[in-house]
Amino acid sequence: MTEPRAALRPARRPRGRLWIALCLALGFTGAGQMPIFKRYYLADLPGMGWTADYLLLHTLHLALATVFLVWAGAALGAWLVRREALTALGGWRAAAVAALALTGLARALKNLPDVWLAPGVVMAVDWAHLALALAFGALGLAALVRGTGYVR
Ligand code: HEM
Repeated sequence: MTEPRAALRPARRPRGRLWIALCLALGFTGAGQMPIFKRYYLADLPGMGWTADYLLLHTLHLALATVFLVWAGAALGAWLVRREALTALGGWRAAAVAALALTGLARALKNLPDVWLAPGVVMAVDWAHLALALAFGALGLAALVRGTGYVR
């Protein structure tokens, strides 16, 4: 017998699965910008040649990031209306989403031709975005194991 929708663990609901897929795709296209897929031979596997195309991954990352920002913004709007209590992990995950959005936007800003940021700031934002991506993945994994969502 299939479980009723409300009884499904958050990550097993269709929306939860789509959010996970979006975040994994962001992690993949982000990691591809370092760029490591050609160096570590992923791009040599059959059908994976496109992973060596830095500009394609960069464009994909920004397109997915736009969806991520709209989705996170809508979730924030819904939360401001409903004010549901966050789970402990949910609070940390929401903070990671906000910080990823801010550092990601700062990275996109830095790439604009007329914008100049001090080298130290660029490096700090770069490392922060990467560290946050890793932390967000670890928090997501912990939530998946525990079966908890963002809200109680
Ligand atoms: C789940 C969310 C996200 C994940 C897991 C993620 C992951 C990554 C990773 C691993 C990198 C490469 C490491 C680095 O250079 O720091 C990267 C780079 C980047 N990300 Fe994200 N990211 C996310 C969201 C965003 C958002 C919301 C934006 C906003 C526009 C963004 C914009 C960028 C930019 C501009 C770069 C670097 C491009 C360059 O080097 O020129 N990311 N991301």
